[in-house]
Amino acid sequence: MPNNRTFTMIKPDAFEDGNTGAILAAIEKAGFKLVSAKLTKLTKKQAGDFYAAHAQRPFYEDLCKYMSSGPILAAILEKQNAVEEFRNLIGATDPKNAAEGTIRKRFAKSIEANAIHGSDSDSAALTEGNFFFSSLEQF
Ligand code: RTP
Ligand code: MG
Repeated sequence: MPNNRTFTMIKPDAFEDGNTGAILAAIEKAGFKLVSAKLTKLTKKQAGDFYAAHAQRPFYEDLCKYMSSGPILAAILEKQNAVEEFRNLIGATDPKNAAEGTIRKRFAKSIEANAIHGSDSDSAALTEGNFFFSSLEQF
């Protein structure tokens, strides 16, 4: 999916708060098309595998617990320059630093419970999309 696809998850805090619909609306309003979507719940092991790049970080254990604490909405999205455009739409990791109007500014609670994930490169987008979706589920 180089250049035109990215991967996202609406995280447990945002799902629990009933913000899934509003977040999907913001994503579609910004011009992203849904390629795949799935409501699921990660085990702690799956969350650890997904965020394996962060295994040495001090927040890794908490991150795995948090990401497996409730349902998430996983999705592959399509738009020109998708990875960068989507990172701009969601805003900074810490909502205190997120720009006005971004999804994290609107919906995130904290640096950890920050409402939404966005891939940080084309290769991550491909790996992360394939983590959740078979090729038959990617339209
Ligand atoms: P993401 O991968 O979820 O889109 O977030 P990101 O790129 O903005 O941030 P990243 O550095 O990749 O961190 C992954 C997730 O770990 C949690 N985190 N907690 N307590 C902390 O200091 C801390 N730092 C990061 C957040 O849920 C972050 O999105
Ligand atoms: Mg990241």
